[in-house]
Amino acid sequence: MAEWVRIFDTTLRDGEQSPGFSMNVAEKIRVAKRIENLGVDVIEAGFPVASVGDFEAVQAIAAEVKKTVVAGLARANIKDIDRAWKAVEKARKPMLHTFISSSDIHLEHQLKMSRSEVLKLAVKAVKRAKSYTDRVEFSAMDATRSDWAYLGQMIGEAIDAGATTVNIPDTVGYAVPGEFGDLIQYLMDDVPNIGKAVLSVHCHNDLGLAVANSLIAVQNGARQVECTINGIGERAGNTALEEIVMALKVRKDSIGLDTRIRTEQIYPTSRLVSSITGIRVQPNKAIVGANAFAHESGIHQDGILKEKSTYEIMTPQTVGLSQRTLVLGKHSGRHAFRDRVKSLGYDLTEDQIQNAFQIFKNLCDLKKHVYDEDIEAIIADEIIQIPDKYRLTFLSVTSGSELIPTATVQMEIDGKVIKAADLGNGPVDAAFKTIKKITGDTSNLLRYEVDAITGGTDAQGEVKCNLEKNGITVIGRGSDTDIIVASAKAYISALNKLNYKQKYLTTDLDRTL
Ligand code: KIV
Ligand code: ZN
Repeated sequence: MAEWVRIFDTTLRDGEQSPGFSMNVAEKIRVAKRIENLGVDVIEAGFPVASVGDFEAVQAIAAEVKKTVVAGLARANIKDIDRAWKAVEKARKPMLHTFISSSDIHLEHQLKMSRSEVLKLAVKAVKRAKSYTDRVEFSAMDATRSDWAYLGQMIGEAIDAGATTVNIPDTVGYAVPGEFGDLIQYLMDDVPNIGKAVLSVHCHNDLGLAVANSLIAVQNGARQVECTINGIGERAGNTALEEIVMALKVRKDSIGLDTRIRTEQIYPTSRLVSSITGIRVQPNKAIVGANAFAHESGIHQDGILKEKSTYEIMTPQTVGLSQRTLVLGKHSGRHAFRDRVKSLGYDLTEDQIQNAFQIFKNLCDLKKHVYDEDIEAIIADEIIQIPDKYRLTFLSVTSGSELIPTATVQMEIDGKVIKAADLGNGPVDAAFKTIKKITGDTSNLLRYEVDAITGGTDAQGEVKCNLEKNGITVIGRGSDTDIIVASAKAYISALNKLNYKQKYLTTDLDRTL
């Protein structure tokens, strides 16, 4: 048996199905490069037929990714597969991933087809994909609620048709570990040609069991796990990459399998995904949560001081969580700054470095200690930008215990300068009302959240702001040492995302096969 488990990252596809999630092409490319650097085996870049925006993003990622396999998703029909191939064909290692449901619930109520009709479509789809590339993955959607014998027949025929990976999704997060392990064992034993393909699993977290189910699957013969950074994804999300990878690494003594992930890249990748998507990592989240390595109880602290292994099963360094260091200060030069940016995993042009360095110097005047997280915030906010419709050029707010909060805002909309002022119930409210006045925005503010990026009263504030309009939800983020400016940036970033999503990502999927 192979001793490696392949890691198939679907942050940019299933992860993108998280509520409120939206990334523009430039952001997706940044995430893809980081994920490649993390050492995953496959990057599922998107669902090309879903929209023009999705297609262009997959195409751009295929062109950028250097070593890793890039997969495009397609339903089991010719139109989807041809479109997916057009999107990934320029990748150095392209893959097509096609799927169709295997459960009677889906066949009866959604597809309205018989088992034999669905089998035919599955085989036809795999053959079509195989006519383009050798790397073909077939998924039997809702596999865990399917009849085992039918599922086995379906994946067996998919392998005969040319699938090199067969995937068993727990689409609705219904499986429990014992039963899921038995299903994988059954497929390993009863599908005669199973040895010709890699058996993969794709678990959703509706019962909080995605990682446990993935783990038992590899213990029973699966050799690929599909997962996402921070476990983001449809509904309750997918198997968290960082959790399954570290479970395999830390318990290699018991499981005997490992991955090719460069685990010290886990934390920076998690932070990047969280900052770009605006989906916050809960503090007690395993591996990458803020408290994952924090010891609170006196007894634990005492043990850690005496010998780390008393209460620590892995070191923070293994997952790339170094002590927050004072990275640079007022007197740091351009060279040191450039090196630091590089070591954080950013590949910036010389012009971008110059701009970032200027902003960094300004920040040093405002803030005593500048940390890695501050530099990442500068890069996310100021440097890597898409051509935005809305831009904040000036903000002034007056407020106080005896004053009515008043904001004056100047913005550029498609390059045209517009200025306005308004009152509010507080400084943030005044700023938001003024931005609304200028932009004519009619979206609903679903959530507004403020965090400090690092400690201290001079910390940069990070604001996240969720907007909804016509069923489309987005999360914008902004950071600044001034919390009102950070709030305005977050609101405007959300407006830009809303504009982008309405323009490019509105799905053109017809919902039939
Ligand atoms: O959850 C699921 O079934 C999927 C498939 C498309 C693999 O995401
Ligand atoms: Zn899924």
